[in-house]
Amino acid sequence: MKLPRDFFRPLAIGAPEPLREIPFRPSRMIHFFDPSNPKMVAKVPELAGKADVLLGNLEDGVQTEKKVAAREGLCELARSFVPGQAQLWTRVNALNSPWFLDDLLRLVADAGDQIDVIMIPKVEGPWDIHFVDQLLAQLEAKHGLRRPLLLHAILETASGVNHVEAICAASPRMQGISLGPADLAASRRMKTTRVGGGHPGYLVRADPDPADAAAPRATAQQDLWHYTIARMVDACTANGILPYYGPFGDIADLVACEDQFRNAFLMGCVGAWSLHPNQLAVARRVFSPPAEDVTWAKRVVASMGDGSGAVMLDGKMQDDATVKQCRVMLDYARTIAERDPELRAAYALD
Ligand code: GLV
Ligand code: MG
Repeated sequence: MKLPRDFFRPLAIGAPEPLREIPFRPSRMIHFFDPSNPKMVAKVPELAGKADVLLGNLEDGVQTEKKVAAREGLCELARSFVPGQAQLWTRVNALNSPWFLDDLLRLVADAGDQIDVIMIPKVEGPWDIHFVDQLLAQLEAKHGLRRPLLLHAILETASGVNHVEAICAASPRMQGISLGPADLAASRRMKTTRVGGGHPGYLVRADPDPADAAAPRATAQQDLWHYTIARMVDACTANGILPYYGPFGDIADLVACEDQFRNAFLMGCVGAWSLHPNQLAVARRVFSPPAEDVTWAKRVVASMGDGSGAVMLDGKMQDDATVKQCRVMLDYARTIAERDPELRAAYALD
């Protein structure tokens, strides 16, 4: 086993020191665009004011014959990208694909200073992260990067879910994990054909009425992703990195998209992917604490003094544990307020 003291040593001579803490910057929506598509690229400057993260996608969704154009398009865009607006991330091709190596070689050489986070798809276990970690250190040293590139794994294989804790802990570069429900469904041999979201067939049904066996029985649809999101949130949080819901493929169904995003938010996720500009507002609404929750959290913290003991507020018991939850809400709201002036005004935090 690697010695704990070696964990924060650079993996190559001349590579930057790994970070001790993963910076928390708002990343409520990770907006995907195809850098080989000139129409999408033209929209990037406008979207930089609306999305916390813009992600140049090189993997699935980009046609095979456009893979190289997407890579080159992203390098070109990165050169003129003004850091400080949105963050710029990328999703490279899978480690076993014919494009991964050149994706990494080109991006680090040409855009290593501009890109914040590299998403790695189809991660199977910590060994995938170790490989990328070492390769990145070599490339950072070669190109004189002063800031380490961060890694984000997509949880989209059954093996990845099995090893999710070890993936989170595999490198100090690990920034976060996104659920990839489409590939995960395929890998698990689930019998769905969608990109995330629920399924009307996955439900529970009330018992039959003993007096009328033919009477209709209420059903309630269940969340197919609950187990995986819960596991991912625990693994990420226990390792000081950030969990995200991934894509919601039914672009026209903003209502169900919002429900899926909100379930993830309530369970601890800090953001989701947006595949279409219409999903940006949904993600912003869901992954920003509601102003009334912030007001309530302020009241609880103020009424609890040093945080010990218990008080009743509007008939609800408050104690050390509710104060801690309220502090989570307030800390998060403060971070969001720095990026979002409208919410800063609504939260009225000092
Ligand atoms: C995302 O990449 C997914 O497979 O859902
Ligand atoms: Mg996928």
